[in-house]
Amino acid sequence: NKRVKIKELLENDYIDRDVVIMGWVRTKRSNKNVSFIALNDGSSIKNYQIVADPNILSEEILKKTTTGACLKVFGKIVPSQGAGQQNELVAAKIDILGEADPEKYPLQPKKHSLEFLREIAHLRVRTNTFGAVFRVRHALAFAVHKYFNDKGFFYIHTPIITASDAEGAGETFKVTTLDLKNPPISEDGKIDFKSDFFEKETNLTVSGQLEGELAAMGLGDIYTFGPTFRAENSNTARHLAEFWMIEPEMAFYDAEDNQDLAEDFLKYVISYALENCKDDIAFLDNRAAEEDSTKKADQRSEMGLLERLQFVVENKFQRLTYTEAIDVLKNSNYNKKQKFQYLIEDWGVDLQSEHERYLVEKHFKKPVILTDYPKEIKAFYMRQNDDGKTVAAMDILFPGIGEIVGGSQREERLDLLSKRMEEMNIPTEEMWWYLDTRRFGSTPHAGFGLGFERLVLFVTGMGNIRDVIAFPRTPGHAEF
Ligand code: 4AD
Ligand code: MG
Repeated sequence: NKRVKIKELLENDYIDRDVVIMGWVRTKRSNKNVSFIALNDGSSIKNYQIVADPNILSEEILKKTTTGACLKVFGKIVPSQGAGQQNELVAAKIDILGEADPEKYPLQPKKHSLEFLREIAHLRVRTNTFGAVFRVRHALAFAVHKYFNDKGFFYIHTPIITASDAEGAGETFKVTTLDLKNPPISEDGKIDFKSDFFEKETNLTVSGQLEGELAAMGLGDIYTFGPTFRAENSNTARHLAEFWMIEPEMAFYDAEDNQDLAEDFLKYVISYALENCKDDIAFLDNRAAEEDSTKKADQRSEMGLLERLQFVVENKFQRLTYTEAIDVLKNSNYNKKQKFQYLIEDWGVDLQSEHERYLVEKHFKKPVILTDYPKEIKAFYMRQNDDGKTVAAMDILFPGIGEIVGGSQREERLDLLSKRMEEMNIPTEEMWWYLDTRRFGSTPHAGFGLGFERLVLFVTGMGNIRDVIAFPRTPGHAEF
């Protein structure tokens, strides 16, 4: 007989059938006559109950059946004796695939802190919380591809190693094959990259956008979904050095089309998770509520996780310009009573996450699409508005998260783009390929970037971005 996954057993009628299941022991309860083993194989948040009769199974096998051990169980599915339980498996034979010495196995059948689990990232996927998080993460990734595929977008694989810095923020990780202990030095005293692998300075990509734009200027609608890297030294619960980004780019879209797409897309992927991850989200909803109850009254969320997800899907996002937002913030009680760390005084300042969260959580109480930022605080490629001061940028701000999406209509006019690049010290000669799209068959186009982990953070209700990616990369942390 063939192995059956626990999810399959839970969703179908297997009564009286002989099956084989495999998985890891979560708990074992024993009395003189019988042992109950809760087995989990990752296919579902739910464990499957195995009834083990010491008259049938050897004492040695039952002794090795400890939390964390991996088992192969042969037996028959029967209706459960226990009240309110589903079916269970009566074991005829158990093979121990892998023992887990209870003295040494770090995961005990109790609640561990997330900080502790972060230290054992190689094992934490065996817990209920991380099982749920990674199943939801998978569903969201699948929904991203489904959404764009159904809309006729093409998935483009943009390079990981590049010679450009799309955001122009200088937060890149260098890539080199040079011996940095003894690098070749050119006449001007600097490292000579001519003998480096690519014969020039290269880095890990911070964004696939520029290459995405090239593709959109031929394929029409494209999206990227890949890893991006930022050497920003922000040790926060919202930043990773290595994160995944989804970047659609659309020819013939203007700023408003871009906003409409972003809102529709976010609602779609969240609905998809709600429909397809019911058990996991219910578990995470409980978890978040427990976490919330340990907080001070004024720091508790107004809505539970499930309620918050439904609310976002059902309500129109608030759209307003940066200039309007500055007015709201300036006149807010938080500003007047100096509750912001950075007080809002003048137009032109960059918004901090405390301001973004004020707008979303205290003022509008719904997701916000902020548009038309001052050009000085945004990237070189954003389309300049007629006022000469602002660009056609958009940031989407989410409750509990802050910025989840950043995007814009792109500057498609060669003269304006070249001038802006020069003003911002972006090397126009090296970016000849980017400017070529404006030289030949240029057209209005727009796009945005969704930080995938910030989306997973929102949908799982977890509090720290390190807990929604399997192997987080943050300052000082890259164990394996
Ligand atoms: O706002 P950002 O920097 O925009 C871009 O990279 C554009 N090229 C996107 C585009 O228009 N195609 O980053 C986009 C999103 C942010 O809104 C945020 O969700 C996420 O990427 N992000 C990060 N997520 C985790 N860790 C970090 N260090 C992040 N930096 C940005
Ligand atoms: Mg941004």
